[in-house]
Amino acid sequence: MSIPAVPTRRPFVWPIRGLAYGGDYNPEQWAPEVWRDDIRLMREAGVTMITLGVFSWGSIETADGSYDFSALDEVVGLLYEAGIAIDLATPTASPPIWLQQKHPEIVPTSREGVHYSQGGRLGWCPSSPVWREYAMRIVDVIAERYAQHPAVRMWHVSNELGGGNRHCYCDASAAHFRRWLTERHGTIDRLNQAWGTAFWGHRYGSFAEILPPRDSESAPNPALVLDFDRFSSDALLEHFLAERDLIRLHSPEHMITTNFMVAQGPDVVDYARWAPHMDVLANDHYSLAADPQREQELAFSADRMRGLDTGRPWMLMEHSTSAVNWQSVNRSKDPGELVRNSLAHVARGSDSVMFFQWRASTAGAEQFHSAMVPHAGERSKVFREVCELGGILAAIGEVAGSLVEAARVAILVDDEAGWAWRSGEKPHHDLPPSHAAREYHRALFNRGILSDVVPPWTDLSRYDIVIVPALFLVSDADARSVAAAAARGAVVLVTYLSGIVDETNRVRAGGYPGAFRDMLGVFGEEFFTVQDGETVTLRGDGEGISWRANTWSEKVHADESETVAWYETGQLAGSSAITRREVGDGQAWYVSTRLDQDGIDELVGRLLNAAGVHASVPVAPGLEAVRRVADTHSYLFLLNHSAASITVELGGFDLLGGEEHPHSVTIAAGAVRVLRESRRSGEALR
Ligand code: GAL
Repeated sequence: MSIPAVPTRRPFVWPIRGLAYGGDYNPEQWAPEVWRDDIRLMREAGVTMITLGVFSWGSIETADGSYDFSALDEVVGLLYEAGIAIDLATPTASPPIWLQQKHPEIVPTSREGVHYSQGGRLGWCPSSPVWREYAMRIVDVIAERYAQHPAVRMWHVSNELGGGNRHCYCDASAAHFRRWLTERHGTIDRLNQAWGTAFWGHRYGSFAEILPPRDSESAPNPALVLDFDRFSSDALLEHFLAERDLIRLHSPEHMITTNFMVAQGPDVVDYARWAPHMDVLANDHYSLAADPQREQELAFSADRMRGLDTGRPWMLMEHSTSAVNWQSVNRSKDPGELVRNSLAHVARGSDSVMFFQWRASTAGAEQFHSAMVPHAGERSKVFREVCELGGILAAIGEVAGSLVEAARVAILVDDEAGWAWRSGEKPHHDLPPSHAAREYHRALFNRGILSDVVPPWTDLSRYDIVIVPALFLVSDADARSVAAAAARGAVVLVTYLSGIVDETNRVRAGGYPGAFRDMLGVFGEEFFTVQDGETVTLRGDGEGISWRANTWSEKVHADESETVAWYETGQLAGSSAITRREVGDGQAWYVSTRLDQDGIDELVGRLLNAAGVHASVPVAPGLEAVRRVADTHSYLFLLNHSAASITVELGGFDLLGGEEHPHSVTIAAGAVRVLRESRRSGEALR
C-alpha cells in the first residue's frame, strides 16, 4: 500500500457537546468493583469522554484467535449508562506476548543490529507483513464489534506511532525501503545523482544493493539518512492508513485520529505531512521539568499543532495531572498549574483536555506516573483540581468550535529540515534544530503576539511577518513562496542555517543562505562557529544596536542589501552581521548569527514596528492572553503565570465567575479567567 496523493478527510463532526474532558482509561488493570468506583468519580469530576482500549489487546485476544470481550463489553456498557463518550482505541500500540513469542520477527531491530526483545511499547516493525496481518485482524474484530455502539463517538488508532518503533533496520524494513526508494527516485542513476554517491565511490549498481543506514564505523551519507527518516515516517503512516481505512468500513460516520507528539521538533515522524490524513488532529504534550520556560514551550507546541491545520480545532489527547515518570528528576505540578496548563491548550485551539491516565497504576512500567485519580485517591490536591477543572470546562463549554484569532506572524518549521540538520557531520554538533524557532517564538510570546508555527508550504498570504528560523532544508517552491510573501508586503526575517540544502540534502552552492540569497541580497562566504562560552558583539549604525551573539557567525557580503549591524568582535569583526533589503512592498532581513534573547527581543520589536503588528490582547509580564473567535462572540483567555495578581483594563463576561466586568478584570496570581466578549465588527475569522 502506498500513501494516497490526495488525502481523504471526514467533515469535522465534534463527537460531544462542549469541550471533551477525560483521559486514557485502562480498566483491565483493575477489578470490576473498581470500575464502578471509577464511574462514580468520573461523574464527580465532570468527565465527558475517555479513551478506551489503548493497551487492551493482550486482555481481549488472550491467545491466537481466542477472544474474550466480557470485560470490555461491561465497561463500554457502564460508560454508556453514565453518559460518558468513548474515543475507542485500537490496541496495536502494545502487541500481546503470545504474538511476540510466536513471531519474534515482528519486533524491531536497532541501527546497531540488536533485535529487540518482547515486552516493549510499540514492539513491532511497520514493514513486517506478519505484523500487518495480525494488527488488521484485531482492528477488524474490534471495529466490527463496537462500531455501532452508541457510546463510541470517535476512533483512536494505536498510540503515538513511532514512539518506540521510529526506525527499524531489519531485512523486511530494508526491502520496504528499497521499494519506497524505487517509487521516489525511479531509476538508480537518479538516486545516485540525488545522493551524491560519487563521494567515497559509493555508487549503487541497482536498488537491490541499498541497505538502511545501519551502523558502520564512519559517518553515513546524509542523503541516505534523510531518505530513511522520510521512509520510516511513511511506513508508519501507511500503517495508520491501513487501520483507518479498515475502521472506516465499519464506522463510516465517526472521526478517526491518532495521537501526535508535537513538541519542539523535529518529531519522531513528519506530523505536518501526516496531518491531512487525520479527521481531527490530536496531540500529547508533556512539559519538561528542566525547561526554564515551560509555559512558552507549551505555547510553542500548541501553536505548532494549530499551525498544522489552522481551520479546525484540535485535541489535547494526553498531558499529565502532575509528575511524569520518564524524566531524570520528575517534577510535580504546583497548585493551579494543572488548570493553567489545560486552559493554555484550550486557549490555543484545543477542544479537549485529556490526560494520561484516569487512575494511577500500582504496577507495570508506569506505576509512578501521575493520573486523574492518584494513588492517594480522592483526598488529594490532584483529584480536587481534576474536579475543579471539570467544572471550569463545563462553564466554558461554549468555546468549543471557535477558532483562535488569526495570527499575523508565521514561523516556518519543517521536520525534514530538522532531520537533514541532524544527518551526517555538520559544522556544529550541539545546536538543536529547533532552537531558533523557539527563541523567536519566545520573543513574540513575551510581547503577547500570537504566531502560527507552520510548515513552509503553508499559504503565507495572510501573514504580515514571516520568520524563517534555521530552516536548514527548503524546496525551491517553498523558497519562492517566502520571496513572494516579501514582494507582496510582508516583513520576512531569515536566520543563519536556512536554505542551506535542497530536498536531496545537497548543499546549494554559490553562497549561503542558498535558497534565500537572491531575496536577501546577501552572499555568505563561510561559516564561523563561535566556541562554547564565547560571545561576539554587534554594533549598529545609528540604530542604537549593541547586541551580543553566540554559537554561530557567518562571513556575509551585503551585496544588494543594507547593513543593519556589523560584527564588532570575534573572527568577523568589521563585516556585516544583520542586513535588510526592500523587496517589492515588503522587506527581507538576514540575521547571520545567534543573537542572545535580549537581542532577539529587540530585533523582533523592530520587525513588529516595520510590519505595523501590535498585540490584540492585553500584555503584562507573566500574563498569557489569547483570543478565540466564534460567530457572535469571542473568548479572551487570561492566564496569570506570575506570583502577583494582574489587572487588565478591558471588559467582558467572566465565564468562570459568572459575572460581567465592564471595565477591568483582575486575575489572581496563578489563576485563569475566560471572558466572553461581543465580537467587534470587522474581526477576521480564518
Ligand atoms: C505518552 C503515552 C502514554 C503514557 C505517557 C506517559 O507518551 O502515549 O501512554 O505512556 O506518555 O507520560
